[in-house]
Amino acid sequence: MSDELSRKLESKIDKKLSSKSKKKQLDDGFKKGKVVNEVLDKPTVMTLYKMISDHVISYVNGAVSAGKESVLFWGVAENQKNVALKIYLVSTSNFKKREPYILGDPRFSKVKKGTKNLVYLWAKKEFRNLSQCFEVGLPVPEPILVTNNVLAMNFIGTDGSPSKTLLESQVDESDYLQSLSFLHELYQKAKLVHGDYSEYNIFKTDNGIVVFDLGSAVDLRHPNSEEFLKRDISNITRFFNKRGISVKDPSVVYEEITK
Ligand SMILES: Nc1ncnc2c1ncn2[C@@H]1O[C@H](COP(=O)(O)OP(=O)(O)O)[C@@H](O)[C@H]1O
Ligand SMILES: [Mg+2]
Repeated sequence: MSDELSRKLESKIDKKLSSKSKKKQLDDGFKKGKVVNEVLDKPTVMTLYKMISDHVISYVNGAVSAGKESVLFWGVAENQKNVALKIYLVSTSNFKKREPYILGDPRFSKVKKGTKNLVYLWAKKEFRNLSQCFEVGLPVPEPILVTNNVLAMNFIGTDGSPSKTLLESQVDESDYLQSLSFLHELYQKAKLVHGDYSEYNIFKTDNGIVVFDLGSAVDLRHPNSEEFLKRDISNITRFFNKRGISVKDPSVVYEEITK
């Protein structure tokens, strides 16, 4: 984006903010110059503008889902492909609890202090994890680009609605076996442990499972990678067992994955 354009956008946003802040100051403590609406702060809006001017997306279609620490927007690329924009929230997030997933990972040894930097780093980390998986052919959303706190990746689903997760689907033994084999290949080929593996973070699509939410994934050299892997196995075992699928002993699964 040219400096001239940036300045224009800045001043446009500033104007919007000041008119909004006058109105809203009393009822919700809206801070001047800080938040554009409940979801996106000003730097995030600037980042989205940058993605548009860089031709990563041509427009943003609206929010798909909102969590405590991230929101997912549906964007559309110039070739009409749907893009998932995962936006990590800087202002509201409790990122302290994420520190352990970053600090022990040798890929991210130089961590700058401050929440904003940690949030940006987290987005970068998820992008890198996705790339590491995608490169070895694991079924994950194809990563496109990360800028600041916005991660752009291939949208899994149709017309802005995400595919169903395992939780929302009928599951069978094949889904269970695919879920185990994902963990195995993640470990052996991508050299990663997911760290937040569960029925909430796995889509079931017509072409098999697609695993997402890889922000927590750590390198095998992370001091807690063994503990995280055991937890991942136990989550998935518990879920399929509850759904009536006959499951293997988690410790046997652990041996198979790591040997
Ligand atoms: N690549 C994607 N394509 C479509 N929907 C997605 C994609 N990634 C995430 N989502 C949707 O956004 C929701 C939250 O994403 P997730 O990465 O799990 O974030 P959180 O860290 O908040 O759990 C998911 O449950 C899913 O519905
Ligand atoms: Mg999730």
